[in-house]
Amino acid sequence: MPTPPESVREIRVAALPDGLPRPEHFTIARTPPPVPGDGDVLVRNRFFHVFPALRTLLGGGVPGAPFPPLRPGDVLFGAAIGEVVSAPPGTGPRPGDLVRHFLGWREYAAVPAAQCTPVDDALPDPVVHLGSAAIAYTALTRDARVRPGDTVFVTGGAGGVGSMAGQIARLLGAGRVLGSTGSPAKAQRLVAELGYDAAVIRDAGAGAGPIAEQLAEAAPDGIDVLVDNVGGEQLQAAVGAARTGARFVLVGTLAGQLAPGLPGTTGPAEIDTFQLITRRIAMRGFGGLDDDGQGRPGWVERVGGWLRSGELTFPHVRFAGIESAPRALQEVIDGRHLGAVVVEL
Ligand SMILES: NC(=O)c1ccc[n+]([C@@H]2O[C@H](COP(=O)([O-])OP(=O)(O)OC[C@H]3O[C@@H](n4cnc5c(N)ncnc54)[C@H](OP(=O)(O)O)[C@@H]3O)[C@@H](O)[C@H]2O)c1
Repeated sequence: MPTPPESVREIRVAALPDGLPRPEHFTIARTPPPVPGDGDVLVRNRFFHVFPALRTLLGGGVPGAPFPPLRPGDVLFGAAIGEVVSAPPGTGPRPGDLVRHFLGWREYAAVPAAQCTPVDDALPDPVVHLGSAAIAYTALTRDARVRPGDTVFVTGGAGGVGSMAGQIARLLGAGRVLGSTGSPAKAQRLVAELGYDAAVIRDAGAGAGPIAEQLAEAAPDGIDVLVDNVGGEQLQAAVGAARTGARFVLVGTLAGQLAPGLPGTTGPAEIDTFQLITRRIAMRGFGGLDDDGQGRPGWVERVGGWLRSGELTFPHVRFAGIESAPRALQEVIDGRHLGAVVVEL
């Protein structure tokens, strides 16, 4: 492996936003390469994920969440894939290996060896490890227990999680798959590219009307499963459309997280709890992935197989160069893209 250059770049918080983050709230700083401490692996990052929860971290974070809030001067972080430059002997990773870790938004990272996960070729493209296939698969199988013939509604159906959840629901046997998105153009892409049967448009965009009415039209017999990335009025509408015994898994809160007038740390929703009771709706928060410590988790084989056979696609957009990262985040927040957004270094 070549030695690191004399200076490397990283993205830092310049100022906390009042409202949604924009590129001016970040700086691209030059710094000497990190010096790995005892037990650290030096990694040259190749890709990192650009994700909306950064808004929550910039807004002060959420108690109990696994990640600390971001403050002015902090380097941003998030899932990344990089090439090992050097590693302490006997820790597993070797120079040249690809590893997944959580110190993205910088060109080089010193990562504790225990926080590096090897990336092998079980998935056809290492970048898929930055996507949300694991979350979508686990939410649908472990939490919502989707069954053949189910009608499944995926809110945020065009996003990183949603674009995989809609496709995987179908592969797991769902009979009808519906998604929500932000514009008529994206609604068309949900149907044409991701195999959704129909799409509804949030915030009554383009005169689409209230989401509850759109959902009633798209699913006249109701829904059995909700994968909720949005919350707010979309969760409310899903409760109204639920069939008896429906299973809801709450993964995200985009409506609160990306609301300009809220701090990004709350996900308010008003729901009629009578309906939960009378229709025995099970509602469960997605608490993270299973880690049984037994090596490669089960989703990898199945998702890898679907990707290789062409039954599943990994929609994503790649931005080139660390300098593009603040703009990439803005475009994620603005809903410009379908699928996951990554920066390639
Ligand atoms: N529990 C967990 O372990 C876990 C893990 C991963 C992610 N999450 C959460 O799951 C959610 C989805 O994550 P993701 O990575 O898939 O994000 P994402 O959907 O890719 O986020 C960006 C999308 O959000 C939508 N959006 C923008 N403003 C919105 C608003 N005001 N209301 C509703 N939607 C809006 C836009 O899509 P459209 O234009 O298509 O609407 C945009 O493209 C996030 O809340 C994330 O934090 C939770």
